[in-house]
Amino acid sequence: MAKIVAFSNQKGGVGKTTSCVNLAAAIGKKGKRVLLIDMDPQGNATTGVNVSKRNTPHNIYEVLVGECTASEALVRTNYRNLWIIPSTLELAGVEYDLHQMESHEAKLKEILEPISAEFDYIFIDCPPSLGMITVASLTAADGVVIPMQCEFFAMEGLTQLLMTISKVKKHSNPRLAIVGILLTMYNGRLTQTKQVVDDIKRYYADKLFATPITRQVVLSEAPSYGEPICYHDPYSKATLEYNDVAKELMLRI
Ligand SMILES: Nc1ncnc2c1ncn2[C@@H]1O[C@H](COP(=O)(O)OP(=O)(O)O)[C@@H](O)[C@H]1O
Ligand SMILES: [Mg+2]
Repeated sequence: MAKIVAFSNQKGGVGKTTSCVNLAAAIGKKGKRVLLIDMDPQGNATTGVNVSKRNTPHNIYEVLVGECTASEALVRTNYRNLWIIPSTLELAGVEYDLHQMESHEAKLKEILEPISAEFDYIFIDCPPSLGMITVASLTAADGVVIPMQCEFFAMEGLTQLLMTISKVKKHSNPRLAIVGILLTMYNGRLTQTKQVVDDIKRYYADKLFATPITRQVVLSEAPSYGEPICYHDPYSKATLEYNDVAKELMLRI
């Protein structure tokens, strides 16, 4: 069965999608079969792997509400060993539909079960909230990766997220583990960065991925070409950093 990993942080713009897409592509390139689940109505992971939000036959919303199966919604990307179940803006309304269902937290887990054996990893790109979509994602997951930007309010956000994770563990998914905290848009020369890193190390040293992802323009350009960084610029520092994290992630889960 696939190892299911959710990329979650209720803050927007912290590098969830960038990390989810680039790690999925890096691991696919290494020969493992990876499925991306785009659980953000914005659909940035979908466009990030060059899949059109308008022309896909099906999307994750339709799967969640039972209009099609996960298997029918799979889209093979142009990249090695990389599939995606795309998202569209329709997903924004799913919280209402989920509310009507019994055991809605377990819905994503349930729909992924029939295809789980086809993949080594399933990566879920969560939206920037701690709402029902995130709870359903954490309930489906074996582990969670927390991308974090080293700024002043990062620690507060982390505390809140960890509380949600422990609630999910208690109520719907006791096996949920924290795979790691990933520092993104890292700039080691900033005092603020040093302070946040010190704080994280003080409390969660064992959770921190050894390699931070530095801030690099190429990482913000790659999505506009629909290309993960390891295809867009294979010899860039960003590719090397995401490769290191990919290796560490595979050892951790
Ligand atoms: N290491 C980085 N260096 C430079 N830009 C980055 C980096 N990581 C992410 N970005 C850019 O920052 C923005 C937010 O990243 P994104 O992954 O979409 O965050 P989230 O999914 O958490 O909202 C995007 O425009 C993305 O291209
Ligand atoms: Mg995102």
